[in-house]
Amino acid sequence: MATLLILLLFLDLSAGLRAGAAATGREDCKPTRCNSDGPKIRYPFRLKYDEQQQQQKQPEHCGYPGFDLYCDHENHTMLELPFSVKVAVKEIDYISQLIHTYDPHDCFPQLLQNLNLSTSTSPFQLKDNYNGNYSFFSCSSTEPISYNPITCLGSDPNRKVYAFPSDDFMSDYPLLSCKKMSFKISSPIPYFMFDQQPYELTLNWSKPTCGICEEQSKYCRLKDNSRDHETECVDDTTKSPTTGFYGSDSWTTSIH
Ligand SMILES: *[C@@H]1O[C@H](CO)[C@@H](O)[C@H](O)[C@H]1NC(C)=O
Ligand SMILES: *[C@@H]1O[C@H](CO)[C@@H](O)[C@H](O)[C@H]1NC(C)=O
Ligand SMILES: *[C@@H]1O[C@H](CO)[C@@H](O)[C@H](O)[C@H]1NC(C)=O
Ligand SMILES: *[C@@H]1O[C@H](CO)[C@@H](O)[C@H](O)[C@H]1NC(C)=O
Repeated sequence: MATLLILLLFLDLSAGLRAGAAATGREDCKPTRCNSDGPKIRYPFRLKYDEQQQQQKQPEHCGYPGFDLYCDHENHTMLELPFSVKVAVKEIDYISQLIHTYDPHDCFPQLLQNLNLSTSTSPFQLKDNYNGNYSFFSCSSTEPISYNPITCLGSDPNRKVYAFPSDDFMSDYPLLSCKKMSFKISSPIPYFMFDQQPYELTLNWSKPTCGICEEQSKYCRLKDNSRDHETECVDDTTKSPTTGFYGSDSWTTSIH
């Protein structure tokens, strides 16, 4: 009799479990990538759209608001920052909550013209603390300048384009042939950003704080039926949470 009761309880619970899983469609949220070398996409990120396949991918509940990625028509993993600044994602560090980005078309300065990561517009911030405004100059190719030129800007073969930190003393350089360009990046960017190609920009995020969970080799996901996008930490995203009514802990205790 006791066995039967337990069995009934078991059936009841597992039916509830399955219904719960179906309702939230957790299968839709399986980790994915845009190409075999691309970063793994999982919560708090979701893959929203694939341009190559012209297909909607994971539904909204798979990610945290603002963490939508898409695959472009060349299978790059893309993140759209405010004001249509579309950067490619090279790597996502889920523990440190960092995202390493680049420009798939090799002209990051061009791409960053409208960069604006003010906290009211973006969940992502510059990871670097050492940022500044830049001014762009077009100089004669013969001008002896120790900076690396930005080869993707400017079309005159006799001139080279340089980015100088705006607070640098221009008089320190013998810049007789240089002309200030109207080209501008509207927000501060990391110093040294243009020292080495390919250019990269590292962003971080503070919310959701999944890093602590990831550090324990667990996974974050959006809580069911949560109104303000609460996150929970689970052992395995395909299973129910380890705590709560349908938790596997309460399971084991009720059966054995
Ligand atoms: C993108 O990926 C698809 C499917 O894996 C593949 O057929 C296609 O050739 C790739 N396109 C590019 C530009 O790499
Ligand atoms: C960035 O966007 C915010 C909010 O829209 C705006 O207030 C701010 O002026 C912008 N900053 C720049 C540098 O454009
Ligand atoms: C960059 O320029 C903006 C607008 O001129 C200014 O408000 C800001 O303080 C500057 N930032 C730095 C780091 O120099
Ligand atoms: C992101 O990086 C900036 C600059 O280093 C730092 O001030 C901020 O606290 C970082 N945010 C998080 C969540 O790590």
